[in-house]
Amino acid sequence: MTGKTKGLLAILTGVLCVGLIACGGEGGGEEGGEEHSSGGEDLSMYEGPITGDAAAGETVYANFCAGCHPDGGAGVGPDLHDRTDSPAEIRYLIRNGEDRMPAFGADQISDEDMENVLAYLTNFGMFQ
Ligand code: HEC
Repeated sequence: MTGKTKGLLAILTGVLCVGLIACGGEGGGEEGGEEHSSGGEDLSMYEGPITGDAAAGETVYANFCAGCHPDGGAGVGPDLHDRTDSPAEIRYLIRNGEDRMPAFGADQISDEDMENVLAYLTNFGMFQ
C-alpha cells in the first residue's frame, strides 16, 4: 500500500468515526439512562443543562473539591454559594483549572461525575 493510500484511509476512518459519534449522540429519547457516560467527547464547554445526580455528586465533591471549598464555603478557594456562573463556565473551570484551582482531567473526574458534581453545586445556590 502506498503512503498516499494509507493517508486517505486514515482520513476516511476519521470521518467515519466522527459520523458515528454524532449519530450516536442524537435522538434516542430518555430510555437507556446512562448515555451521558460515553467517553471521547469534550464536554468542557458544553452549554447544555445539568443532567447529573446531586446525591452522586456529593461524593465527587467530597473527594475532589471539599478540601479547598469546605461545604461550599471558603478555604483555599472562594465561597461557592449563590454564584451565577453558567454550567459551561464551571465545566471549563473543572477541566482546565484557574489560578490555584487545579485542572481535573477525565481520568480523575469522568464526564458523568462532572455532571453529578454540577448538580450537587446547585445545593449551594449556584447557576441560579
Ligand atoms: C487545591 C484547591 C482547590 C480544589 C481542590 C478545587 N478548587 Fe475550586 N477554586 C480554587 C481556587 C483557588 C479558586 C479561585 C480561582 C481564581 O481565583 O480564579 C476556585 C474557584 C472555584 C469556583 C469559582 C470560579 C469562578 O470563577 O466563579 C468554583 C465554582 C469552583 N472553584 C469549584 C470547584 C469544584 C467543583 C471543585 C472540585 C471538582 C474544586 N473547585 C476544587 C481552589 C480549588
